Amino acid sequence: MKRRYEIAVIPGDGTGPEVIREGMKVLAAAADRFGFHLDAVHYDLGGERYLRTGETLPDSVLGELRRFRAIYLGAIGHPDVRPGILEKGILLRIRFELDQYINLRPVKLYPGVETPLRGKGPADIDFTVVRENTEDLYAGIGGFLKKGTPDEVAIQEMIYTRRGVERCVRYAYEYARARGGRRKLTFCGKTNVLTYAHDLWQRVFEEVGRDYPDVARDYAHVDAICMWMIKNPEWFDVIVTSNMFGDIITDLGAIIQGGMGIAAGGNLNPGGTSMFEPIGGSAPKYTGRNQINPLAAVCAGQMMLDFLGEREAAAAVERAVMRTVNGGIESLAAGRMGRGTDEVGDMVAGFVAEG
Ligand code: IPM
Ligand code: MN
Repeated sequence: MKRRYEIAVIPGDGTGPEVIREGMKVLAAAADRFGFHLDAVHYDLGGERYLRTGETLPDSVLGELRRFRAIYLGAIGHPDVRPGILEKGILLRIRFELDQYINLRPVKLYPGVETPLRGKGPADIDFTVVRENTEDLYAGIGGFLKKGTPDEVAIQEMIYTRRGVERCVRYAYEYARARGGRRKLTFCGKTNVLTYAHDLWQRVFEEVGRDYPDVARDYAHVDAICMWMIKNPEWFDVIVTSNMFGDIITDLGAIIQGGMGIAAGGNLNPGGTSMFEPIGGSAPKYTGRNQINPLAAVCAGQMMLDFLGEREAAAAVERAVMRTVNGGIESLAAGRMGRGTDEVGDMVAGFVAEG
């Protein structure tokens, strides 16, 4: 009997459907080559549906999404929809409701890919950020007082729970151990100012760390890490951080690994439904032009295969991506690849089929 996996596919907005189409091509090639089957169920969610029906993520759809092991997401974001509606209504709602408490962001520079960091190469840029994904300023606790008046007050609370911090930190230690790198975990925080929220983080980081004597502990303030990630990216192996800081430093990570053309992430609930996405967004300007780089979506697919337990297939997709970026395309930037979106997808799928 073939191994079978049911996945939900949300192509979403803008260039999302184009990159997901290529990602699915590559996943199909991997399934063929490694003898498993992917049953994909497509869901129409995003800005178009919202403008048509007023719905973001209906409860019934959310209920269906819970049944899958994994969700493959293209992009959410529409130029005609006010910022926040789709992000909160779809993306963040899925993260929260499905309790995807880890946002995993590998930052790895492949040979042949240009980084803006002078003098740094693939040996220097290879680390992973583990970002907490369900709490912090993202929890949406807050409100207005006297809105619209000169006395207006706006409050947005940074919420952290012992349980939420602990499960994230423990995941990061486990990850650092399993990754087989230098076994170094850096907590990125702001303990000199966030003397409550990050005091909790710091204590949990130390306490949980006692269970991992083989993993070296390190600390960096979030502002300082923005310098170190540029100046000495080779210092990092695994970084664990809170939600808002993780959002910021992972864009920095994305640009040093070659940009939005290649950067992918996983929203993980290790015991439930996880979601994988290219992190570049819907790129409205490139929609429908066959110019967007599908490799970030392909890399998200690779992470999904790994999560599903198809390690060999995931490794084959990574090798195929590495071949593609090292000579197969001219640049990772949209419109400058020297090939169409579909041709890049064909190329990666072809490499996967060859092994
Ligand atoms: C990300 C994105 C989201 C976030 C937005 C779109 C809500 O920037 O996945 O990093 O802030 O988490
Ligand atoms: Mn972000």
